[in-house]
Amino acid sequence: MQVKIAPSILSADFGRLAEEVRAIGTADYVHVDVMDGHFVPNLTIGPIVIEAVKRATNLPLDVHLMIEDAERWVGAYAKAGADLIGVHVEAAPHLHRTLGQIRDLGKKPCVVLNPATPLESIQYVLGDVAQVLLMSVNPGFGGQKFIPSALDKIAKLRRMIDERGLAVDIEVDGGINLDNIAEVCAAGATVIVSGSGVYGTKDYATTIAELRKRGEAARS
Ligand code: DX5
Ligand code: ZN
Repeated sequence: MQVKIAPSILSADFGRLAEEVRAIGTADYVHVDVMDGHFVPNLTIGPIVIEAVKRATNLPLDVHLMIEDAERWVGAYAKAGADLIGVHVEAAPHLHRTLGQIRDLGKKPCVVLNPATPLESIQYVLGDVAQVLLMSVNPGFGGQKFIPSALDKIAKLRRMIDERGLAVDIEVDGGINLDNIAEVCAAGATVIVSGSGVYGTKDYATTIAELRKRGEAARS
């Protein structure tokens, strides 16, 4: 079964960003972490940098918004070149409307859950999204350790999706590398974000191929 690899450019060298984006050209998505210094205790990039990333690659941009008031900003990120737009349940009081806005902009809506947020919070929007992103670290920084309770959550979400016969991707983000991708995919993940697990290695293309191979072997 196919597993998509989405390297997170948060761990890239921002001084050579275009080059670093081109160097992961064999991946499936470019995962872009947008942080506002309010929803999470870190500040990263906004639409202008996303425009530059878009110019550097033909891969779809998987934009993970870790910002307050996401509803106000989805239009700007769609215009900047996002293909998938992820909004946190915890940052979107009118979640159903925000996901609808993303779809109306012609982009793929993705809903994101922090480690402590229960799956029940998305049961009424599961039919309205292309992807659910489960955080396996507390968002804000790259290079953190995978939180083991995420595995049970992935498996539960897999059952929820399969029981309803939906074609929704399960993306998992945080602390995933060559050593643990198999268990994450065995639990039911179909899209894997990896920041330091890719950019912390010498040969990105080899790492991406190996991640995909181990992930797909665990899914079959
Ligand atoms: C964390 C971000 C992640 C991060 C993952 O807030 O959402 O995408 O870059 O980095 P690693 O794979 O190093 O945990
Ligand atoms: Zn992310």
